[in-house]
Amino acid sequence: MTAGVDRGHPQAQAIRSDEDVVRVRQLVRTVAVAVRLSLVDQTKLVTAASELARNTLVYGGGGTAEVSTVDNGLRRGVRIVFADDGPGIADLDLALTDGYTTGGGLGLGLSGARRLVDEFDIDTGPERGTRITVTKWSR
Ligand SMILES: Nc1ncnc2c1ncn2[C@@H]1O[C@H](COP(=O)(O)OP(=O)(O)OP(=O)(O)O)[C@@H](O)[C@H]1O
Ligand SMILES: [Mg+2]
Repeated sequence: MTAGVDRGHPQAQAIRSDEDVVRVRQLVRTVAVAVRLSLVDQTKLVTAASELARNTLVYGGGGTAEVSTVDNGLRRGVRIVFADDGPGIADLDLALTDGYTTGGGLGLGLSGARRLVDEFDIDTGPERGTRITVTKWSR
C-alpha cells in the first residue's frame, strides 16, 4: 500500500431536503458500523454529520455529503465532505464560537460537530461556498 491515507470508494448523498439529512445520517451510520467504530463513536459521528448536513441545507442552500472510508495503515475511519455553493461563512472564528447563530438556532452545530470528530477542516469563501471535511478514526 502507498504511504498516507488510502481512501475507499466515496458514496455521495445530495442534501436538498429534510429527508436527505436523514439519508446522510443513515449512510454515515452504515459506513461507521462497517469500519467498526465503537457505538459511542458512531453516535458522535452521526450527530456531527446531522448538524453539518442541516447547515448545508439551511445556510448553504443545499449541497452534497460524500462519505468514504479511510485507512492510514494503523486505523480505519470514516471521512465525510460536506460541500455547498452558498454564500460561504463570513467570519469563521465567530461561526465556530458556541452560541453564535445568524439563523435563530442554538449556534452549537459547528462548534459541537468540531468537538465530536477527530479531524475538522473548513474551506469557505464567498466565491467558493463552503466545504467542511470531518474524519473519525477507529481506536
Ligand atoms: N454551510 C454554511 N454556509 C454558510 N454559513 C454557514 C454554514 N454553516 C454554518 N454557517 C454559519 O455559521 C453559523 C453557526 O452555525 P451553527 O451550526 O453553529 O449554528 P446554527 O445552525 O445557527 O444553530 P444550530 O446548529 O445550533 O441549530 C450559522 O448561523 C451560519 O451563519
Ligand atoms: Mg447549525
